[in-house]
Amino acid sequence: MTNDGPPFGGVIYQVYPRSFRDGDGDGVGDLAGMRAGLDHLAWLGVDAVWSSPLYRSPMADFGYDIADHCDIDPVFGTLDDLDAFVADADARGLQVWLDFVPNHTSDRHRWFEAARSSTEDLHRDWYVWRDPAPDGGPPNNWVRHFADAPAWTLDERSGQYYLHHFLPEQPDVNWDTPALREAQLDVLRFWMDRGVRGFRADVVHLIGQDRSYPDDPPGVDRFDGRGDFHHHTSTKEHLRAIRRVLDERGAIIVGESYLEQPEVLLAHVGDDAQHLSFVFHLLGAPWDAAEWARRIMEVESVFEPAGAWPSWALGNHDRPRLATRLGSEARARVAATVQLTLRGVPCLFQGDELGLEDAIVPPDRVVDPGGRDGCRAPVPWTEDPDAGWSSSAWLPLPPDAATRSVAAQQADPASTANLYRRLLALRHAEPALVRGAQRILGGADGIPDGVLAVQRTDGVDELVTLAEMAGRGAVLDRRWASGWTVAIDTQSAGPREGTPFDGALDADTAIVLRRA
Ligand code: BGC
Repeated sequence: MTNDGPPFGGVIYQVYPRSFRDGDGDGVGDLAGMRAGLDHLAWLGVDAVWSSPLYRSPMADFGYDIADHCDIDPVFGTLDDLDAFVADADARGLQVWLDFVPNHTSDRHRWFEAARSSTEDLHRDWYVWRDPAPDGGPPNNWVRHFADAPAWTLDERSGQYYLHHFLPEQPDVNWDTPALREAQLDVLRFWMDRGVRGFRADVVHLIGQDRSYPDDPPGVDRFDGRGDFHHHTSTKEHLRAIRRVLDERGAIIVGESYLEQPEVLLAHVGDDAQHLSFVFHLLGAPWDAAEWARRIMEVESVFEPAGAWPSWALGNHDRPRLATRLGSEARARVAATVQLTLRGVPCLFQGDELGLEDAIVPPDRVVDPGGRDGCRAPVPWTEDPDAGWSSSAWLPLPPDAATRSVAAQQADPASTANLYRRLLALRHAEPALVRGAQRILGGADGIPDGVLAVQRTDGVDELVTLAEMAGRGAVLDRRWASGWTVAIDTQSAGPREGTPFDGALDADTAIVLRRA
């Protein structure tokens, strides 16, 4: 299958709209800001823009609690603004993808308000209701996200509990109810009719549920340890229904399935499920070449033979930023070089192309119930003290906002933003990086310890990424000292690029080689 290429051959860029760019000066990002930011994305060379939720929401989870799936929250603008954003993106050759949040709604959604109004209401079964346990407590021992608290809340009026994997303000819906499922599919149709070309599916592994709601086995450590227990066979059937609707219009879906084992994850991606699945195995990986190699091979030994396509993500609005996690911008540049040359569809998180670090958020400015404010800091656009955020922004700016701003980095050929731009240009110019076969090279190929080496080949074309991850530099053996040209070098503004490779690799750097 390697020569067929992925169903979407481009690169995805995630916009977190509250923090991307502010168009109206109220300190919260919006659609007008997103329109104004499109030129940066076109300059960078990405292909699709996925926006985190823009829908009407009470913002208990900053948009992942949807009160109306088919309208834009006033903080972001209007449906007309969304249409204008899609048109502007289209004019620049960029696809617009939205966040599809299938597992839960807001408790202020009219569906839930109706469901909770009476046990007889037609919407009752659109959510998950259970009688209390014999002691009056929650129906099972599940724990919700963001707190050491039950995943169930008692509804005083009916005396039943409702399920919520996240906040009590985010009740889980019941995909086994045909009318709910159809309503969710209509949401997809609504947005595709407005020119939306793809979706990111939020915690989609949760939509198929064991309706007997058994206790988690003893010793399971809350959600993270429970991830693979939430692989229920009915999820696949729901994914097929979603896929049929998307195929009618040629739209793409990338799933956020938090499933650890690649064999389990594989059920969610492929011709009769989602086009792509996020793979987070490198996001949490220690900075170690052998461990990165092991994780890439672990995923690809399952995905590649099945013709399935990973979407490698190194950051998002839920996790500390790349540069913060890895401890330096140099390492973040190395990681990006690996990400953008791996087989699959890379997904970039806004601001990682600027090498941003998490903001320091003092206790009196914490707003997220999940402790994720740092990575959600506003993107700095200008070198002014407010970085282009005309009034005080909803979260503190990230460190070194002026020097890391879009304006400063576009003008500096040695910047991280310009490195991303060169990597994206290389990816577009080299089919081997998109549809080529992939092999992780090792000692037998002359690759020293501490260096991750990824080979991509397509016919006679061959590229190899070498990433120095041990912090001591490396000299490769004679096999590598001739016959290769440096296509990308993370530590320079490009002077080494286009010159023959001499076999030397500096500490905390990566290069991409092209067979001369
Ligand atoms: C999203 C989070 C959100 C959660 C519930 C996630 O995986 O990325 O930001 O809090 O789903 O919707």
